Amino acid sequence: MGIDVLISEQRIKRRVRELAEEISSEYKHKDLLLLGILKGAFIFLADLVRALNIPSRCDFIKVRSYVERESSGKIEIDFFPAVEGEDVLLVEDIIDTGLTINRIKEEIRKSGAKSVRLCALLDKPERRKEEVSIDYLGFSIPNRFVVGYGLDYNERFRNLPYIGVIEDAGVKVR
Ligand code: IMP
Ligand code: MG
Repeated sequence: MGIDVLISEQRIKRRVRELAEEISSEYKHKDLLLLGILKGAFIFLADLVRALNIPSRCDFIKVRSYVERESSGKIEIDFFPAVEGEDVLLVEDIIDTGLTINRIKEEIRKSGAKSVRLCALLDKPERRKEEVSIDYLGFSIPNRFVVGYGLDYNERFRNLPYIGVIEDAGVKVR
């Protein structure tokens, strides 16, 4: 099983810096709360927060929605911090069907956040089942199953410094 590089470490670094600049200028006069969606967003969030030049706080949300390669369409919340009155920026690894992120956004609004925006590293628009508004996007990618930079296949490959595509014995995975 080989892995082809789709987005190199250098391209990711450059794009993360650009996103951080945009976020820093738009949240300059706010008290930003970054909410990383576990586990996939942990590496992206770590790089993003270090590239910001404004004060911020970090917390995490943990949901379960994905078994192997398919979204089950429902989520179970394992961990959800207090967000009342907060300017929340959700940080997600990838927007696929959109079901997970829309459920999370709903929960955050219901819990009384002052504002909710979304920053996603990757977007697979071809797979969308529900419309999602992405305020800050790293890269739009084709409909392929990707790993690395926090994203996993059955918990593996999160540590790759790039975004890669798995090639399984010559058969392309999705
Ligand atoms: P959605 O509800 O279908 O949008 O699912 C989004 C979640 O599925 C992401 O947070 C990822 O954890 C996972 N996911 C979707 N596509 C991929 C992929 O290509 N590689 C790894 N994980 C993925
Ligand atoms: Mg995942």
